[in-house]
Amino acid sequence: MRKPFRTPTASLLVLALILLIAACSQEQSDTKTASATAVDSAYSDWQTFTYGNIRIHYPPHHVRDTLFQEDARAWSAIARQQALFLGIPEPTDTINIMFYTGYGQGRSMTGHEYPFMRNDTIFFWLPSFYGPVLARYMIHRWQPEGTHFPFLTEGIIALLDFSGQNYHALTLRNIDENRFEPLADLAVDTAVNSDTERVKTAEAASFVDFIVFRYGRKALASMYAADGSFSAVVNGLFTISVDSLQTLWLQTARQGAALDTTGSRQERCIMADETWSTGITDIGPGKIRVRGFAITDIMEKLSYAETVYLILKGQLPTPAEAALMNAILVSSIDHGASPPSVLGARTVVSGGNSLNAAIAGGVLVIGDTHGGAIEQSARLLQEWVKKGDDLPAVAGELVNWLKVNKMRMPGFGHRLHNVDPRTAKLFGIAAKHGYSGRHIELCQAIEKALQDKLGKALPINVDGAIAAVISDMGFDWRLGKGFFIISRVPGLLAHAYEEMTREKPMRRLGPPPFTYDGPPEQEIP
Ligand SMILES: CC(C)(COP(=O)(O)OP(=O)(O)OC[C@H]1O[C@@H](n2cnc3c(N)ncnc32)[C@H](O)[C@@H]1OP(=O)(O)O)[C@@H](O)C(=O)NCCC(=O)NCCS
Repeated sequence: MRKPFRTPTASLLVLALILLIAACSQEQSDTKTASATAVDSAYSDWQTFTYGNIRIHYPPHHVRDTLFQEDARAWSAIARQQALFLGIPEPTDTINIMFYTGYGQGRSMTGHEYPFMRNDTIFFWLPSFYGPVLARYMIHRWQPEGTHFPFLTEGIIALLDFSGQNYHALTLRNIDENRFEPLADLAVDTAVNSDTERVKTAEAASFVDFIVFRYGRKALASMYAADGSFSAVVNGLFTISVDSLQTLWLQTARQGAALDTTGSRQERCIMADETWSTGITDIGPGKIRVRGFAITDIMEKLSYAETVYLILKGQLPTPAEAALMNAILVSSIDHGASPPSVLGARTVVSGGNSLNAAIAGGVLVIGDTHGGAIEQSARLLQEWVKKGDDLPAVAGELVNWLKVNKMRMPGFGHRLHNVDPRTAKLFGIAAKHGYSGRHIELCQAIEKALQDKLGKALPINVDGAIAAVISDMGFDWRLGKGFFIISRVPGLLAHAYEEMTREKPMRRLGPPPFTYDGPPEQEIP
């Protein structure tokens, strides 16, 4: 069970007043209006300053009554910044701020030692910082049910309070001075308070920063909302013990402390705001989950081709998709020593470079006319398949369009093969599994239209076949070149290694001797 919030001893009359003020003053203007609905004589002469969705309620002769616009802007900016950090929409509904003139008035009228928030209203007095009480207000919107671990609330508040503190450095100093509160104790100590216990609060802020930095805002939100013992929560969320999490935290704090010496607190928080998301692989200590599946299960239960499908598509393949993905990856593994990418890889080795440079060089050679035809072919298939139900007619129009634009149809034609054996096999596997769809149909119709309209037998080459199959599988054409690259890299590796171990460096590679036909010999005047 989640622990209920402690109820501060706020005056019920004040609360009634706030509710009335909120209900009665709906206008959105930069004006000062007397609040005519006093239910407590202490507040009867209070006025309201409205700026956008910020309402500042204040007594007459407030020390800042000429500066409310500036204050309201500051509240707005801080709320925006905090909303960004918490990943919630910026508040657009009214924020009521009861603005007492100072500590004495605040304490005597509310009974509270420190500024606080209650029922969506902020009770604030100078000389406090704007940040902490507003953070409490924003955290309430972020997770209205509160948390089982109040040190997280205090940590977030301290982190969001742009007061220039280097919380990581403070935490490390606490270790040096033997005042360090270990994570397990910090988590159960509900007394952490941003105003009275700076040591613990610094540690809480450093820990929150670490969680956001390493695991992201969603992990912080999950931790915040979790029930149960701290060790069970840590173990469930991060599959790690509290001690190990603490070790990781302090390692990260060391880096954070160094970073904070070169950047202000505010910059550090902004960096945390810029946390980005990935939907591919979730990692943590002892955890690697690709698209949600444990890598250890994948290692045992899926083939390489099935795993490629999983990582690209985000879901497990059906048996037909697994068979087709395997066929695609095998089909282009190598095509002899003559393709440009192989010559590229071998040339890089021959020049005295390492294996990684050779593979990179070979991959760089892959382009729109070599291997990369998959991409443009899939693009045309995916765009033109939508143009009508009669695919032979669509194919005819496409070939006309190519002719007018003096373009070749990518994925068709081959220097060596009249019929590309890989194409026949790929389409055969698709047919065997009942997987042939409209893209394969359109592809075959284009082959016929090229013959009919151009009078040329231009066979669907392996790139065209892969383009059709991946389009039927629902892959975006922009992934096209990737399938060829994944398939060809082992071939490039074999060629690079053979070049390295069998041939002498700087041997003559490529076409036979050339003749020079540039300018004749000349002198610089
Ligand atoms: C693969 C390719 C380079 C082989 O070319 P090639 O057999 O040497 O043929 P050529 O480049 O000499 O072209 C011969 C004729 O066929 C035409 N042609 C070749 N491929 C064509 C295609 N895909 N679409 C339309 N016309 C094509 C050429 O325009 C040329 O016509 P022309 O004689 O009227 O000038 C060529 O077919 C091509 O560019 N295909 C598209 C790119 C592609 O699929 N690459 C992947 C290869 S696995």
